[in-house]
Amino acid sequence: MNGTRIRVLSVFGTRPEAIKMCPLALELAARPVFESMVCVTGQHREMLDEVLSVFGVTSDWDLDIMEERQTLSGVTSKILTRLGDTLEQAKPDVVLVHGDTTTTFASALCAFYQKIPVGHVEAGLRTYDRYSPFPEELNRCMVGRLAEYHFAPTAQNRANLQREAVQGRIFVTGNTVIDAMKYTVNDRPFACDALNRVDFSRPVIAMTCHRRENYGQPMEHIFSAVAALAHAHPEITVVYPVHLSPVVQEAAQRNLGGAENILLTAPLDAMDMHKLMNRSLFVMTDSGGIQEEAPALGKPVLVLRRETERPEAVSAGTVALAGTERDVILHMAEELLCDRARYDAMAHAVNPYGDGHACERIADALAFGFGLRAAPPEEFSA
Ligand code: UD1
Ligand code: UDP
Repeated sequence: MNGTRIRVLSVFGTRPEAIKMCPLALELAARPVFESMVCVTGQHREMLDEVLSVFGVTSDWDLDIMEERQTLSGVTSKILTRLGDTLEQAKPDVVLVHGDTTTTFASALCAFYQKIPVGHVEAGLRTYDRYSPFPEELNRCMVGRLAEYHFAPTAQNRANLQREAVQGRIFVTGNTVIDAMKYTVNDRPFACDALNRVDFSRPVIAMTCHRRENYGQPMEHIFSAVAALAHAHPEITVVYPVHLSPVVQEAAQRNLGGAENILLTAPLDAMDMHKLMNRSLFVMTDSGGIQEEAPALGKPVLVLRRETERPEAVSAGTVALAGTERDVILHMAEELLCDRARYDAMAHAVNPYGDGHACERIADALAFGFGLRAAPPEEFSA
């Protein structure tokens, strides 16, 4: 520690980590007790830079590692090599990482190699299937072993960590994504012009699909279901901002590119994405973050995966697992479109993931951990 200030280095590299870490970086920077520093790995480039600009966060270090069609070992080894130098320069008292990406795991390992304590934001999510999501499930398990501070969004996440007997201290904080939505959800026009031309008085379905375990046949099945849905229901518009992964771009263009009522766009900035969800009838996605955001907006979600590490909104009835089989997805989407009672049963706003104060709790927990606060923060409870 530098006098009474705690040197905190937040390290993140992809779009979802940035959306969930920027509000925390801003909270830490606003408190005199912290010296807040940010290192981006650049695992994503355009999709990361867009988020930094939405939140007005600038990085102190940029490892700039992204390559087209990068591999998991390529990303891991570049971060291990380049972050080591940054840690030597920054000399943080604690390194914060987020979630379950390759940036998360490699950065936590790198900090551990220099015996710097790691704080894991969004700790304790589990499917207990090592290949789904892949490689995220084992990334977050391994970070659970490495970290000394575990910021669990929900009580269920804490219970998962307790079962694994992780070392260090667990704090239940809520998810910082709900804090992020205070910055992003508003009534202004879309920055993406194509969205300003969509007729939202008719049913609009927002969709995303990008996960590695869905590459290949599952993604083909998902896209086939969406194409059939759009064909059978000319009154709807499906809006799909396509992830920049060349694998996803190619499959999306080939399967969905020709349909009149399917709008494929470039990735949206976070404000546009949240506004799009807010104005849509429902959401179809394999994303993690969107499963947390849409319920807060009162929008039903069909999850295009076999399982989820976010069961809280499934229990609350606003999220349903649709899997990756064409006919099941089509049936469940048609139910939401055509069965009013089914729709109403799912379309209620719930906030099992946070109350918008997660960043304050994490900052308080860190201050407590370093002896600069007498008591831990009050826990988030839904
Ligand atoms: C990564 C995370 C995943 C997360 C997702 C969020 C891992 C293993 N996976 O997966 O957990 O859900 O981010 O979106 O960490 N690309 C660009 N520009 C960008 C971003 C990506 O061109 O701004 C392209 C590049 O060709 C890159 C490819 O997308 O090689 C894949 O990116 P990568 O980060 O490896 O995997 P994601 O599928 O994005
Ligand atoms: N998102 C965005 N623009 C898009 C698609 C998604 O800003 O075009 C946001 C989304 O609202 C959520 C986050 O990106 O906050 C989720 O990222 P992603 O689905 O890429 O990753 P995951 O959460 O599955 O790891």
